[in-house]
Amino acid sequence: MIEAPDTIQRIEKDAKAQLEAVQTAGDLEAWRVSYLGRKGAVPLFLRGVKDLPLDQRAHAGAAANALREELEAAFGRKQNELGGETTHEDPIGKYREGGEGHLHPLTLAIRRISNILSAMGFLIVEGPEVEEAQYNFDLLNIPLEHSARKEQDTFYLSSHPELVLRTHTSPVQVRAVLERNIVPPFRIASPGRVFRAERTDATHESTFHQFEVLSVGENVTIADFKGTVETFYSAYFQSDVTIRLRPSYFPFVEPGFEIDMSCVFCQQKGCRICKHTGWVEVMGAGMVHPNVLRNMNVNPEKYQGFAFGGAVDRLVMLQHGIYDIRLLWSGDFRFLKQFS
Ligand code: DAH
Repeated sequence: MIEAPDTIQRIEKDAKAQLEAVQTAGDLEAWRVSYLGRKGAVPLFLRGVKDLPLDQRAHAGAAANALREELEAAFGRKQNELGGETTHEDPIGKYREGGEGHLHPLTLAIRRISNILSAMGFLIVEGPEVEEAQYNFDLLNIPLEHSARKEQDTFYLSSHPELVLRTHTSPVQVRAVLERNIVPPFRIASPGRVFRAERTDATHESTFHQFEVLSVGENVTIADFKGTVETFYSAYFQSDVTIRLRPSYFPFVEPGFEIDMSCVFCQQKGCRICKHTGWVEVMGAGMVHPNVLRNMNVNPEKYQGFAFGGAVDRLVMLQHGIYDIRLLWSGDFRFLKQFS
């Protein structure tokens, strides 16, 4: 059992003597741990107070608390003397061997895309990853019988049949315009994560990223669209990019296009990335369907616009010559470290 008066006095004497001898921040921390730390002498003593004879408790407790305060103050003074440096051991020091951390290449790409589009006058907006089927499909003019709604393509929530994991970023078009009461002319863009119930392989993942771009106004034409897309890709790849449009079908646009970008890797001389065609398929696009404009409370008699949606993962793969999309989700340091 603790002999109260002796023990507290001995702790005080030792602590003060040892503090005198402290030379470095490391010494000081060791001192703090042995006298004031969780298992240090003073807290241990305080925890033992309740076991002392009743008539000694109050006095011993008060003395120990006073000593603690005194030692804490002395610790602070010594810390200042030593230059005020932090004396706690660097808790992550031992992990630094692996090198500084850095952002994931997908995060970097999303930021780069957002910066470019924002500089081009687009408002960056986000939408939910768990989306109402209404926004993901119906309001985008995708009818109930459309194959995209089938279960093999879409993750439904069994407990909430009206919800899906969004299969594209296009629902943000209608959602953002309605939620924010945006009126034409406007330009909005939305990067984010999307989900498809797909079997994964080197070019397909069940989770990937897209960015959606929408511009609506009285005189927004396909020429504006082409200029916007070329400017965007030229900025992204820091290289003069041209695009070509191929006719395609998406229910939310009319006409719809598939966009190919001139290959920035071989300047169209032909390479593995463009499969020796000089062109790389990068996204879907089109002039916004009148029904979709109506769903945004925009009058299609007066306004028109373009929309496009591209995969971020694909851009990152093109940019860095990554051959397997699954690496992006792998969390494998050997892969990720290249992008620091
Ligand atoms: N949402 C389409 C997809 O996920 C891509 C897309 C196509 C977006 C045409 C658009 C568009 O805005 O106009 O495949």
